[in-house]
Amino acid sequence: MLDQLINHTKEAFQSAFQSEADHLFLAPGRINIIGEHVDYSDGFVLPAAIDKYICFAVKKLEDSETCSFFAIDFNESFNFDVTRKQTPVSQLWVNYLLGVFNAVQERGKQIGGLQIAFSSTIPMGAGLSSSAALECGFAYILNEIFNLKLSKEDLALIGQQSEHTFVGVMCGIMDQFASVFGKEHQVIMLDCHSLEHQYFEANLDGYDLVLFDSCVKHTHLTSGYNDRRKDVDTGKKVLWKRFPETKKFRDFTVPMLDEVRTEMGERSYKRCLYILKEIERVKNAAKALSEGNVEYLGQLLLDTHSGLSKEFEVSCEELDFLVAETIKLEGVLGARMMGGGFGGCSINLIKTENVDAVAEKMSEIYKSNFDIQMKIYKVKISDGIKEFRENEMRI
Ligand code: GLA
Repeated sequence: MLDQLINHTKEAFQSAFQSEADHLFLAPGRINIIGEHVDYSDGFVLPAAIDKYICFAVKKLEDSETCSFFAIDFNESFNFDVTRKQTPVSQLWVNYLLGVFNAVQERGKQIGGLQIAFSSTIPMGAGLSSSAALECGFAYILNEIFNLKLSKEDLALIGQQSEHTFVGVMCGIMDQFASVFGKEHQVIMLDCHSLEHQYFEANLDGYDLVLFDSCVKHTHLTSGYNDRRKDVDTGKKVLWKRFPETKKFRDFTVPMLDEVRTEMGERSYKRCLYILKEIERVKNAAKALSEGNVEYLGQLLLDTHSGLSKEFEVSCEELDFLVAETIKLEGVLGARMMGGGFGGCSINLIKTENVDAVAEKMSEIYKSNFDIQMKIYKVKISDGIKEFRENEMRI
């Protein structure tokens, strides 16, 4: 699959620009084992980069001030002048890239002419962070080609800034961080307050993490994601007004939250309570993972799903169905919706020998209940964004 993506991207570059690309870059999507909707509230998250990618074919132009994109999968092009400040346009995919350019410019960095063609195997709107791969992939390319001396952390923050300013989704840092910092076989325990992080060997000991794509598409521009953030922000204002000495959101306790419950209102209370509980679950999950306690990890995934569905209210009928039915099957230890919600994938912890039977059964009952053909992704935990050098790397 990867070699197909690479060849297809190279060929499309050649026919769009009538020349050969000089560089190839791969920017991965991500999974998140646990820690949902806590990345914008000083929480911990446990994401990992996966073997689904946006492939970019790139050529640097020496005497040009134009950056030209060809989005192969949309069959659309866009050019802009790299000496000018850019503002958002009507094509959504372009805004992810212009937002990155703008953020790079704001950091006082200059870039020159480029031609880029890109294509993706990360399904869009499936909660696997194709947007973070696009933003951070472009930021990484600019950094490498023009030697901008930005750190990896800068690249993740630039991707997030693009999303905030040019796209309008007030996302946290998890997706961008995972796409930039991913490592083969390792999950990342990220402290979203300090951006300190540790890698864990993803030792699931005879179990696999498998994704079931509900094929309910969403975009967080319209999904309710920003509304959830507003509910949480309302709660935060009340909490910090009452307890101004508290440094991080995760330092608030449930009794503190209870004290200001009436003042913040029931909706914000529910959201904040979910977040405090989810942060605890992530800490427990990291411990369970490092000790190989898969049963407990499975239970935590289920608890997270219940919180996301009932307290944070970001699930949907199809995802609730997938989780409720999957967990009934033999060899399944845990299941939950993954990512921002309102559609996308569930992530399932399944005994390796039962994966095929579970996937087959779930496809069948999902189809008969919703008349939708569920997709199944058996993903591998992979490296973060990198340049692909054909003679150095295996495919
Ligand atoms: C989306 C956002 C992330 C994070 C998740 C939920 O993927 O981009 O920042 O908030 O939702 O955990």
